[in-house]
Amino acid sequence: MEKFFITAAILMGQFYWAQFTDINIVKEVKVKNKGVVVSAHPLASEAGAKILRMGGNAYDAVTATQYALAVVYPQAGNIGGGGFLVGVKNNGEKFTLDYRETAPKKASRDMYLDKKGKANTDLSQNGRLAVGIPGSIAGFFATLKYCKLPMDKIIQPAIDLAEQGFAITEQEADMLNNNREYFRKHNTSSIVFVKDQPWKAGDILVQKELAETLKLIQKYGAKGFYEGKTAELLVAEMKRGNGIITMEDLKNYKVAERKALEFDYKGNHVVSMPLPSSGGVLLAQMLRMASFENLEKYQQNSTKAVQIMAEAERRAFADRAEYMGDPDFIQDKTSYLISDEYLKNRWKSFSFNKATPSAEVGKIIPQPKESTQTTHISVLDKEGNAASVTTTLNGYYGSKVVVSGAGFFLNNEMDDFSIKPGVPNMFGAVGGEANSIQPNKRMLSSMTPTILLKNGKPYMVVGTPGGTTIPTSVYQSIVNVVDFKLNANISVNAPKFHHQWLPETIKVENNFPENTISELESKNYVIEKVKQIGKTEMIVMDDNGNVHAVADGRGDDSVAME
Ligand code: DON
Repeated sequence: MEKFFITAAILMGQFYWAQFTDINIVKEVKVKNKGVVVSAHPLASEAGAKILRMGGNAYDAVTATQYALAVVYPQAGNIGGGGFLVGVKNNGEKFTLDYRETAPKKASRDMYLDKKGKANTDLSQNGRLAVGIPGSIAGFFATLKYCKLPMDKIIQPAIDLAEQGFAITEQEADMLNNNREYFRKHNTSSIVFVKDQPWKAGDILVQKELAETLKLIQKYGAKGFYEGKTAELLVAEMKRGNGIITMEDLKNYKVAERKALEFDYKGNHVVSMPLPSSGGVLLAQMLRMASFENLEKYQQNSTKAVQIMAEAERRAFADRAEYMGDPDFIQDKTSYLISDEYLKNRWKSFSFNKATPSAEVGKIIPQPKESTQTTHISVLDKEGNAASVTTTLNGYYGSKVVVSGAGFFLNNEMDDFSIKPGVPNMFGAVGGEANSIQPNKRMLSSMTPTILLKNGKPYMVVGTPGGTTIPTSVYQSIVNVVDFKLNANISVNAPKFHHQWLPETIKVENNFPENTISELESKNYVIEKVKQIGKTEMIVMDDNGNVHAVADGRGDDSVAME
């Protein structure tokens, strides 16, 4: 018997080689006694795997992967944004790190409203005023206490990628080309992401300024970002427009270590992110409501399964709008909102006969009609430490503003606040007072980095980008494995759906079963087809100790192993 075995396969069981020689996308790996890293980009996964081979653990690897994503996946990987880490160590210790952006000191409740009180979402979504104080670098340094290697080693693969350049994928080329005019509009000097000719797959992207910034962080630690040259460049960038972040804001940024949100689900123990991400709360609510109907009796994506799940989503998202925000600023009602007593009452209006109107499950604030990137990393090392990180700039390339001289994109996370009660953010999420803007407050998130334990050991590491579709995608991934007994590959790649209370519509991926769609329509559900939902990175450990790692087939996502 071999000590370990490896089967690498893409979706439908084959290897997929990208068109250019140095990028090799691996969609699925089954392995024993080796660490695995799953992320949105093969070079970032490989950076994490390299750190594992150097003796690092899951936390070293997830940090190296985040740094590398900031280089090779600039649409979402970042040092100018923020994220959440959920960790379960092999001794059973659970922890979370909240390195979500915060509102600058000069931010205020109505900062995106004009004199007539009309909300201006262009300002909360684009340009310098949309930027929250970045948390990622502080988060990476807060992760160090769980790491085995020093930061100067963990950051090195990213420095090499930025300095030497790498071949971009077709998807990245398209994204850069599609955003070219926004980049021009929101930057006052030339940036490496815009060149004379359109980008094409295989073009080499070199980021010298970013490499210099990473070297400052390597040399001076978090101060290499929050103080000194990088901070000065960031503040100078603010002043080239309507930005309000100051040196003091940067210096004062703090990571929050929070107690993980934990609950049991059908023999598994779920460990997820608490507020200020709504992700864990929504997940707990949705899984519990679905269990009232014995979801495991139904088939994945059948009409009844979708009804149960979408109606749970509707009720949970209505609660998100009303009650959820930064727990350092509002009363945290999580334990009540996820209690059986509350949820059973909430579920009373459910019927298989027809859709529950959204107005019946939450207060809708009518609004005049007014006129989206994130990424997830799942890591499991050979010692059984698990790390689940979701990190974001919010929209693709965030605010589209690059810090001139420092080479990195700034987030547009301010749009995740409720800029006015009832005004939808870029993902259509509405909110009210609980998620209103206040200085130093964290904006409500949907990111749901999650780890499931069985008998105290990691059984699943999962997460995805996708704005408000994040909790519902993680929810589907979990029920696919736990309730519908599907394998990791199918669980990740099968067509998904999403409902979020408002709008009333259920979004389904284009390849969603047509018979389910027509049956749902006959029960008053309004269905909208969308190209894709999320990009899930999943690791599942089977009873024999085999690790199945699956990178979503919807993107360039890729698995690497030790
Ligand atoms: O924190 C949040 O919920 C959002 N800023 C996440 C944005 C996102 O997932 C965009 N990705 N497609």
